Amino acid sequence: MKETVLKKFAEVFGDSEGAKVYFAPGRVNLIGEHTDYNGGHVFPCALTIGTYGVARKREDRRLRFYSMNFEGLGVIESSLEDLKPSKEADWTNYPKGVIWAFGEKGMAVPCGMDLLLNGNIPNGSGLSSSASVEVLTGFILRDFFGFDVSNQDLALIGQYSENHFKKVNCGIMDQFAIAMGKKGHAIFLDTATLEYEYAPVKLENAKIVIACSNKKRGLGDSKYNERRSECEEALKELRQETDVKSLGELDEEAFERAKHCIGSEVRVRRARHAVYENQRTIRAVEALGRNDVEQFGRLMNESHRSLRNDYEVTGVELDTLVEEAWKVDGVIGSRMTGAGFGGCTVSLVKDEAIDTFIERVGNAYREKIGYAADFYVVEIGDGPCVL
Ligand code: GLA
Repeated sequence: MKETVLKKFAEVFGDSEGAKVYFAPGRVNLIGEHTDYNGGHVFPCALTIGTYGVARKREDRRLRFYSMNFEGLGVIESSLEDLKPSKEADWTNYPKGVIWAFGEKGMAVPCGMDLLLNGNIPNGSGLSSSASVEVLTGFILRDFFGFDVSNQDLALIGQYSENHFKKVNCGIMDQFAIAMGKKGHAIFLDTATLEYEYAPVKLENAKIVIACSNKKRGLGDSKYNERRSECEEALKELRQETDVKSLGELDEEAFERAKHCIGSEVRVRRARHAVYENQRTIRAVEALGRNDVEQFGRLMNESHRSLRNDYEVTGVELDTLVEEAWKVDGVIGSRMTGAGFGGCTVSLVKDEAIDTFIERVGNAYREKIGYAADFYVVEIGDGPCVL
């Protein structure tokens, strides 16, 4: 890949003298969905697929961007003077947002650059191709200009740019999983404190399989913000009687005692998901620690049911993928992953069942939904690096 991207860089920008090659992973969340903006726990991991970038400093203040994933768009030009927050679905808003965010944090980027990207994460699939670009950009800026920031800071700056430049109110999970990724490990992160632990994911005779629904999110971002507000509203109502700062502070019992304060049935279900999912995540990590992969899988299944029934972020595409997966012998657990409304599912599948899984789930999906899903057997990889 290094040679391919360097060659393309030379083709697009004249030569590749002085250019460096970088990589940042994508991520998949194993369990703990829609908990990160509710002060709960998440359990994601970085993948070995991700975004490759070639970058070179410029003498002037121009920014030139090129993506091998959107070749038709050609070179997109901008400048350090021209970084304005924008919701537009222009991919360059991700690197621009991060350059802008460094400036906002007192680390003004002193010169322009040429940047070429090539990602092998399916776009818009819920595997965080955008957070991957954000962390990659921050990693490049630190390498170029020696900014004194840790990988955790890179995650926070990425989230800041997403919240304030792109105006998507996401939590910290994606950027954190990518910036802090560790081969063979998932990250058990408490989003209320940012305390985290690396947990080895040892799946003897099984693999992580991702099924991509190929349904693009579209309305997803506005629904995402809607769920956030519903949880915030429910928290306010609960605070009439309990002294909690976030839904993540409640366990199931405390929630059941206090839920009568919540004024709508819909908000009860939203908050119930946030509370139960957080507790499920803690238990799932404990189960994995005891090597009880079967129990981990059952909790993944429960997570999906809760996201389907209470949180209502699945939809017929993700439900079909998961419900068909549940029917296949050798599937340890299966659930939607990421924001939902489209995107991917994550399943733990025994080695000997993987081919059958892909065939059966794939066929049932095509029959019911009318187009194909894509399947990826993935590995847990490290965070960003220079190649
Ligand atoms: C998206 C957001 C994350 C998280 C998930 C849902 O991926 O970017 O912060 O909220 O959805 O768990």
